[in-house]
Amino acid sequence: MTYIWAHRGASGYAPENTLEAYELADKMHADGIELDVQLSKDGQVVVCHDETIDRTSDHKGFIKDYTLSELKTFNFNNKNEKYSFCHIPTLEEVLKQVKPTNMIINIELKTGIFDYPTIEEKTIELVKKYAMEDRIVYSSFNHYTILNILKLNPQADCGFLHTDGIIDIADYAVKYNVKNLHPAFYFLLNERYYHEAIIHGLKINAWTINEEKYIQAALKLNINAIITNYPDLAINLCGK
Ligand code: G3P
Ligand code: MG
Repeated sequence: MTYIWAHRGASGYAPENTLEAYELADKMHADGIELDVQLSKDGQVVVCHDETIDRTSDHKGFIKDYTLSELKTFNFNNKNEKYSFCHIPTLEEVLKQVKPTNMIINIELKTGIFDYPTIEEKTIELVKKYAMEDRIVYSSFNHYTILNILKLNPQADCGFLHTDGIIDIADYAVKYNVKNLHPAFYFLLNERYYHEAIIHGLKINAWTINEEKYIQAALKLNINAIITNYPDLAINLCGK
């Protein structure tokens, strides 16, 4: 069975990475959500894709230069007429909201530009506070971040994100006790990649698969999870 995870929430319909987008994902019966975390100026774990707030809010600048209370005054819905004012969520607010649902959370640590020292500790602590360890998959393009997560919690379920073709990535994942590969979806077309992952017992969670023909192709391969902006479409196609 392939799980359907809503990318930045049901972001095809609601402002990305907002509580509203996660609520909609749950209403659409997604199996999980994917979200991106960064640190505010006062060290709070907040959920936002870009290092700046320019694209997703009505203000400009780096997240790391604003305190949480400043960020909370900005509107993180800058284009969706179906929604009014949306706040930037903290990771804690998301955990609180998602806990009573059945959804899992794929937490992507955005440490590619700023390394946000302590983000791993803070993220792990919050997950522990809500006793949701068994419902979290941690991922990052910065694989050192994943090693930090595993140092803090060797049982953590982790995935290596990648957009480039890395030879022998399955061996590499096994070597570091990483159980998931999170490829850009076009890697699914590479038979060697797919077979090596399967042979090594790795789960493939591919992103961002929005078009019907690619969702169908991913379902055929029976990968672990499809990460999509349109969870309702993917759920329909897999006949859940
Ligand atoms: O985690 C999957 C996907 O979100 C990775 O890319 O840039 O959308 O965060 P990005
Ligand atoms: Mg992401």
